[in-house]
Amino acid sequence: MRQEKRFRPHYFLLTWHAGEHGGGYVFDITICQLYIMCIITAGCYICTIPLTEKEVVTMPSITITPLAPALGAEVSGVHLHSALDNAIITEIKQAWDKFLVLRFRGQSLTDPQLLAFSRLFGELDPPGPNPYGKPFLEEFPEINVISNVKVDGVPIGNLGDGEAVWHCDMTYVANPPRAAMLHALDVPPSGGDTFWANMYLAFETLPANLKAKIEGRRAIHDATYNSAGVMRKGMKDVTDPREAPGAQHPLVIRHPDTGRAALFLGRRRNSYIVGMTLEESNALLDELWAHATKPEFTFRQEWRCDDLILWDNRCTLHRRDAFDPTVSRIMHRTQIKGGPIEAFQPSPLAEAS
Ligand code: OGA
Ligand code: MN
Repeated sequence: MRQEKRFRPHYFLLTWHAGEHGGGYVFDITICQLYIMCIITAGCYICTIPLTEKEVVTMPSITITPLAPALGAEVSGVHLHSALDNAIITEIKQAWDKFLVLRFRGQSLTDPQLLAFSRLFGELDPPGPNPYGKPFLEEFPEINVISNVKVDGVPIGNLGDGEAVWHCDMTYVANPPRAAMLHALDVPPSGGDTFWANMYLAFETLPANLKAKIEGRRAIHDATYNSAGVMRKGMKDVTDPREAPGAQHPLVIRHPDTGRAALFLGRRRNSYIVGMTLEESNALLDELWAHATKPEFTFRQEWRCDDLILWDNRCTLHRRDAFDPTVSRIMHRTQIKGGPIEAFQPSPLAEAS
């Protein structure tokens, strides 16, 4: 936290009064009054000097450094283990709206501290059903564990060591999470990098013919598989994406906080654009995915222990590289509840211009 020296306002006032009136009336007063004024003025200065040196008002401030041209910023100068000043929380939220993915390095947090920080962004959204039917952390069921580690042959977390394909979290439900956080407790020396892509940018740069093709369209967001390709509990294989179980969402959404238009793709597997033939839908989805995941729209995270990453789940996609199965990777993860997903309605003015 940076400290700035600031004069307290009432010392400013005293100094201002003394300067203004002392200067203005000095010719109309007696020598005695002049002496008194001089003494008062001198007193003010004497009081002001030691007090302003001792009484330092702390002006909390953080530093935001962009991590990639498309999205992502590093937030430094803040420790997340204790209660944060409101001004800092506001700065963090503004940076989050602007950069979509925020990284905080060197955050050695306990689980309750991770939960407390997560709650600043809304109500927690406990993990969806995991393949083993119970929370990974019995004491903190709101926390999910992302890990390849097995204890006595039983996984301590989700997603294993393989690649996790591009996706947005839990868009197969009507109200997908607004945000998620990963807190790195153990990371491989290399591999297992995570990538995020900016879906505002993907929409804005979409060729006009593709924009026209998806206007007003919705897609099915299949619930069957997670991003590591593991079938979710209670699901059965999908042979026809038109029949896939899961919510339908507009392909272009209005971000509820920023009001900006974002491409909303969910995940590619078993996706289907409602009202098209399967062939048309597959061809269009392939084009949209190829565009949305171009490297220039992405940020790559090479993890260090005690990194904490917060992302916006409505205007980004993410994926993860595979890594060496013999090394351990352990992340504690929280998720924040989101509201309904709305279609983006271009304003009539924007269309006319
Ligand atoms: C997730 C996720 C990727 C990773 O937690 O939602 O996709 O890097 N994680 O572990
Ligand atoms: Mn994910």
